[in-house]
Amino acid sequence: MAKRADGDSSTVKEARPPVIVWNKERERFETEDKEAFLQYHLRGVGLVAAAANSSDNPEQEKRKGAAVMMDMVHTYVPRSKRGMGLAALLCDAAFAHAQCHSMLVIPTCSYISDTYLPRNPAWNSLVCNGEPKSSM
Ligand code: COA
Repeated sequence: MAKRADGDSSTVKEARPPVIVWNKERERFETEDKEAFLQYHLRGVGLVAAAANSSDNPEQEKRKGAAVMMDMVHTYVPRSKRGMGLAALLCDAAFAHAQCHSMLVIPTCSYISDTYLPRNPAWNSLVCNGEPKSSM
């Protein structure tokens, strides 16, 4: 519990940060109410080898033998909840998952390629920056 900024000794409830859940069956990271989500598709082994060969990125070289890539195809947040960093939280969870499972990422979603990655350049080492592109 936190004290109010005006010095009032009564307590106020701290807002709980949204919990992001991995929905393996639907290939999504989503909020508990499922209203906001990041949709991905897993891509096969051939793509991994081709992508890794097209780069001199050592992180990608390390992942050459990985079985799959995460194609992050779509991010969605309901209008009423936009602009508060919810999409970024979904991406944080998805990129951490990719890293944990030694997967490269295809950033098909424009929010991820144009906004999230430039603001979180540490994840660039996971990004497949060569052909092939996703086949949606
Ligand atoms: N492409 C790139 N950047 C976008 C974007 C898009 N389609 N839509 C919004 N952004 C930018 C905003 O301009 C904003 O920038 P600012 O911080 O400089 O104002 C930033 O994303 C907001 O980031 P964040 O708060 O983390 O995102 P969000 O929770 O508001 O959700 C979307 C962002 C894109 C998921 C949400 O606007 C949405 O669901 N849009 C409809 C679906 C869509 O277009 N998805 C992206 C393509 S797959």
